[in-house]
Amino acid sequence: MQRRITLTQFLVSRQKEKSLINADLRLLIETIARACKGISTRVNKGALADGLGLAGSSNVQGEAQKKLDVLSNEILLEANEWGGNLAALASEEMDNPRPIPTHYPRGEYLLLFDPLDGSSNIDVNISVGTIFSVLRCPKLDSGAYCEPDEKAFLQPGTSQVAAGFAVYGPTTVFVLTVGDGAHGFTLDRETYTFVLTHPGILVPEDTQEFAINMSNMRRWEAPVKRYIDECLAGSDGARGKDFNMRWVASMVADVFRVLSRGGIFMYPRDAKNRDGRLRLMYEANPMALIVEQAGGAATDGRTRILDLQPQGLHQRVAVILGSKNEVDRVANYHK
Ligand code: F6P
Repeated sequence: MQRRITLTQFLVSRQKEKSLINADLRLLIETIARACKGISTRVNKGALADGLGLAGSSNVQGEAQKKLDVLSNEILLEANEWGGNLAALASEEMDNPRPIPTHYPRGEYLLLFDPLDGSSNIDVNISVGTIFSVLRCPKLDSGAYCEPDEKAFLQPGTSQVAAGFAVYGPTTVFVLTVGDGAHGFTLDRETYTFVLTHPGILVPEDTQEFAINMSNMRRWEAPVKRYIDECLAGSDGARGKDFNMRWVASMVADVFRVLSRGGIFMYPRDAKNRDGRLRLMYEANPMALIVEQAGGAATDGRTRILDLQPQGLHQRVAVILGSKNEVDRVANYHK
């Protein structure tokens, strides 16, 4: 029987054999993965644990928070606050970054997360997930770490030292990059461990599948409209081949599909969402790093996502990612 590699074994090999991560980063990733298991269990219980519906509060973007948004945020905060490897945390669900309380040891990393992506899908039993990104806390000239305030987090996506996401779907899958490709782990519910099931994910360069919210079509900019019009014209149009469409409306599920069999995922800017809809720091940057590590590409139409200099923690951005040749085509239409 083939020996299965667990997430722990994978991380130890990245630390000891490849020297890609240090012990602190390894522990941090293990803690995040453990929190994801806890969230997975709660998502799975659904209505049985009174987990569905609104929490009665709203987040910094004015969106109504679901009970599971709030709970997932708490699970991630509680799991990560005391480990000694973080200087601060920032969450899509919190207005400001949270420095590690002074009664806990502080470490060198900054953690950002979207605790429950796609949460509008919870009540209708469609896949949701958690996305995270890890940065280093900048240092002062003296060599000491700087105050982990909002400014410390505003680093381009190229500075991420690790990124990943979990999808709570028919199976719970944890996708991770620490800089040597993108790898997927499936939660074995009998042993409660993540097992390496998708090593060295590669996104095919070409695709005939696109993902976009078509209801925004009348508000798109010309280059995106042109691209989708050509996909819809299929074999009768300029592309000379038919395209298929998928839209789960959970970025985690849509991106996992792109990683699994190729495709292009787009949430472009439009006349209503002039800066795009997705968040640069919690969604676009970690997903862009993972997709690039899997051989794909990610752009906002004009600039590679990972090169964007963030202006604010909750900044929104247009996202076009996936199979390289299609992403490049959309970028060329923007020129
Ligand atoms: O940002 C949250 C999110 O739910 C993403 O996961 C998803 O891709 C997108 O919003 C769905 O947007 P819409 O509701 O416009 O389809």
